[in-house]
Amino acid sequence: MELSRILKRMGFSEKTYSEVIVTLLLDNFVNSAPIGVLLLDDMLFSRVFKGSRTYELLRKGAKEGTICVTHDPRLFYYSIIRKEKLKYIFIKGINTPCLSGCNGYVYFKVVKYNDLGDYLAVYMKPLSVYLRKSIPKTYNRASYAIIEALVYYSKIPYTTPKKICKYVEAIKHCVDIVYHSSRSRTYRAIARDILKRALSLVETRKAST
Ligand SMILES: Cc1cc2nc3c(=O)[nH]c(=O)nc-3n(C[C@H](O)[C@H](O)[C@H](O)COP(=O)(O)O)c2cc1C
Repeated sequence: MELSRILKRMGFSEKTYSEVIVTLLLDNFVNSAPIGVLLLDDMLFSRVFKGSRTYELLRKGAKEGTICVTHDPRLFYYSIIRKEKLKYIFIKGINTPCLSGCNGYVYFKVVKYNDLGDYLAVYMKPLSVYLRKSIPKTYNRASYAIIEALVYYSKIPYTTPKKICKYVEAIKHCVDIVYHSSRSRTYRAIARDILKRALSLVETRKAST
């Protein structure tokens, strides 16, 4: 089957961002971070904001990487907050390391990026796909809430003081969802940790103004 058709069947779309974990390789350095990706014709597109390692790696010339597809909120959490917990594997046909525990991988080359000031508009050409045979996973609110809390958390360093309050409230709401919908100690600990770190980031920002 044609690559772009496989990508569409995986959920990649022109209209809706797919939230994936992008692993970039530059020399011997590997980094993974959650990034939203669109499928534009046969090209994958992302906006990578200034201030992240992903941004720096692209600016320094990272040319290839893997899009790791997962619903596992722990992998989103680890790739932002506990990178030392991430494990990598190598898969035949994919030249760059792949994050262990994902359901699918898309190997890509960076074709170009446009520097738009606050962010890079990055165009990636998908070259191969590896899919794990996996049993369909049910939807659960806790995973969604953890990933959503991480989105707000990662915006705090770059946003206005007014919005920071809204983001902290949103994270608290996400923590509530996790507690209402899951008894998992891991999920609850992750949710609490995101809130704790968000509050401490807010204090750091207050102290520096
Ligand atoms: C679900 C999700 C989607 C995200 N999408 C993007 C994105 O499209 N572009 C971006 O620059 N940051 C995005 N982020 C924020 C980065 O993942 C976050 O800033 C991360 O810490 C960057 O890691 P790095 O410094 O290793 O690159 C997203 C975060 C989450 C949780």
